[in-house]
Amino acid sequence: MRFTSWSSLAVGLLAAMTSAAPYNYESSVEDRQAGTGRMVFAHFMMGIIANRQSSADYDSDMKRAKAAGIDAFALNVGTDDYTEKQLDFAYESAAKNDMKVFISFDFNWFAPASSAAQVGGLIKKYASKPAQLKVDNKIFVSSFNGDGLDVAAMRSAAGTDLYFAPNFHPGQTPDAKAVEAGFNWIAWPNNGENRAPQPGKNITVKAGDEAYSKWLAGKDYLAPVSPWFFTHYGQEVSYSKNWVFPGDLLWYNRWNEILELGPRFIEIITWNDYGESHYIGNLASPHSDDGNSKWVNDMPHNGWLDMAIPYIAAYKAGQKSPASFIKEDKLIYWYRPTLKSLDCTATDTTVDGRPNGYETFEDSVFVVALLKEDGKVTATSGSNTKSFDAKAGASAWKVDMAVGKQSFKLGRGGKEVISAISLRDVSDKCPCGIYNYNAFVGTVPAGPSDSLGPEGFTGFNKGLKVQCEAKPSLSSGSAPKPTSA
Ligand SMILES: *[C@@H]1O[C@H](CO)[C@@H](O)[C@H](O)[C@H]1NC(C)=O
Repeated sequence: MRFTSWSSLAVGLLAAMTSAAPYNYESSVEDRQAGTGRMVFAHFMMGIIANRQSSADYDSDMKRAKAAGIDAFALNVGTDDYTEKQLDFAYESAAKNDMKVFISFDFNWFAPASSAAQVGGLIKKYASKPAQLKVDNKIFVSSFNGDGLDVAAMRSAAGTDLYFAPNFHPGQTPDAKAVEAGFNWIAWPNNGENRAPQPGKNITVKAGDEAYSKWLAGKDYLAPVSPWFFTHYGQEVSYSKNWVFPGDLLWYNRWNEILELGPRFIEIITWNDYGESHYIGNLASPHSDDGNSKWVNDMPHNGWLDMAIPYIAAYKAGQKSPASFIKEDKLIYWYRPTLKSLDCTATDTTVDGRPNGYETFEDSVFVVALLKEDGKVTATSGSNTKSFDAKAGASAWKVDMAVGKQSFKLGRGGKEVISAISLRDVSDKCPCGIYNYNAFVGTVPAGPSDSLGPEGFTGFNKGLKVQCEAKPSLSSGSAPKPTSA
């Protein structure tokens, strides 16, 4: 999340973790078996779309999310002067496209101790819009941070019944009595201090589920799901941030964990936070640039949304496997564009060079197979090739990452079914001179090409130490063309 200082929340969470005990999931088993009432949200950053001109600029996001089974966008707002104009557009577009939205207040910007009336006022302004998400007939409201908010004063200012699901922290708000549900933001394995795990300080996402569930004591849990985390802002901006959380197969593993856990709500973190590399929306979604295009250009993530589709359907149906929701054979693959051993320090844009936590990544190319029937998955990374006997349903595989072309195929009964060569090679050169630990995500069969629009490049050259063209290159014809494998 942009501009975020996480230290306070992470410390609060750590305090909660130390007393975490196994959660008794029995309480919600009937709900889960019925497979009803579950909802999927995606966190949507309003801070990078100030340049949108009309509700039509939101339509493709709304359509894509709805088609994937996402029920509502959590509109993350700060106190910017464009906030209400953009909320108007978003609510209007959602209504047109039969989507729901709700406001997620970013308490890095709203001061929890003094903003209850302001927050309540904004809720009131949007509460009666047709696209407003309601849960149990109440206006749904969420947050990023916000411990210390006067919830009663906020409710009173809103003047309507609220279903309040904030990102409060068990360690900072010991009693959950003021909320209807709790939202846990920590979607990545971490060290309890807002950085990647270290030996002896290794907190899983599941431990966060347990801490929240214990705290909520039967109230609804809004669980996080995120594919990745890499942020690499250098001195060209005022909020230097340069770290990763372990990614690798997180997206696949976490979805399987979600099917087991079966919380009432889940939130995908995020739809469009390009700066932290956890977007699953497309690059073409209109947005401005705070410098993240250095590590976002030519890095589509649409395959991650594709992978989520059968998982979302299975989650809503209360099933433990996505298998019966897989409608066609598909491979989703991803990898970083360079090996960890590549030294970019001389030309990198940050003060500290390699992102903190980089060593928690594997040098692997990951493949998730979504298969209608058993098949043989073959992945080739440079000179490394591996084949796997994959069962019908979803399965994950990996091959050691090597410089060169990346190709993938599915075979059955000795015949090739589908194959593709990735548009992006693994390179032995630093991309635009920097450490880029974002993921390139592709699919077989290949999806439509996707690239940043012109406004997504405005911060591209700021801070770069090497000449690098501010434009998409993968769809321009210079990339390797798929051939039969
Ligand atoms: C953290 O624990 C996971 C298993 O839960 C393990 O795979 C990983 O290597 C550990 N990381 C560190 C830095 O100890």
